[in-house]
Amino acid sequence: SFCGPGGERFWFWAHRGASACAPENTLAAFRLAEAQGADGIELDVHISRDGVPMVIHDETLERTTNGRGRVADTRLRDLRRLDAGRWFAPEFAGEPLPLLAEVLEWAGERVPLNLELKDRRTGAAVLRLLHHYPQCRVLVSSFDHRLLKDLRAQAPQLPLGFLCESRLWRLALRRAQAAGAHSFHPRQDLVGSSLARAVRGAGLALYTWTLDDAPRAAALMRLGIAGLFTNRPGALRRELEV
Ligand code: G3P
Ligand code: MG
Repeated sequence: SFCGPGGERFWFWAHRGASACAPENTLAAFRLAEAQGADGIELDVHISRDGVPMVIHDETLERTTNGRGRVADTRLRDLRRLDAGRWFAPEFAGEPLPLLAEVLEWAGERVPLNLELKDRRTGAAVLRLLHHYPQCRVLVSSFDHRLLKDLRAQAPQLPLGFLCESRLWRLALRRAQAAGAHSFHPRQDLVGSSLARAVRGAGLALYTWTLDDAPRAAALMRLGIAGLFTNRPGALRRELEV
């Protein structure tokens, strides 16, 4: 199960892994995030044509792999042939597109994961997969609040995080509270004292994204955020002296 930050501990989530220094959403970026001292790793999930949860941010393959087309239109055996590292830097050539199962296997009970589900169809497949990894510490988040509501109905104990990128955050927060969410994840520019107060009042942890800048992160820490998502967990932690 997911164990959130206890007490006063501040939570550094590596956004797509240590994605400033390694290709996002690859095991190379996840290993580096752990080495840099991240408290947990955020990753994005899409589903293959044959129903296998894959770790990739975009709906399409072009930006972060040498493939073309939509993840949802591509079979696992073809996704496995792709290079998800070379676009970032030559030394990462050959880095594969990870299956979610491989990342769960790697993380075990050691590294908490925030699985961000990008596709409505991923919900059931991810739940089925998680049954095989009861040792993993997983927080499931999405911008799609219907997906989260469905997950809550099927998995009453699963920790959920509600993502929000709209000024209508009060509505999103009400939905999060109604679903018994663990946390609320607004885009960083939406966070101010009234949002921080409301999230605290709702009894949820407040994690915000994406913060690579130490002065801005320090200002939000003063408002009482419980953690943040960053592309550079090691450097930011040093700069903030947390
Ligand atoms: O989960 C926080 C953040 O990752 C949401 O936006 O586009 O980076 O997946 P995005
Ligand atoms: Mg994400």
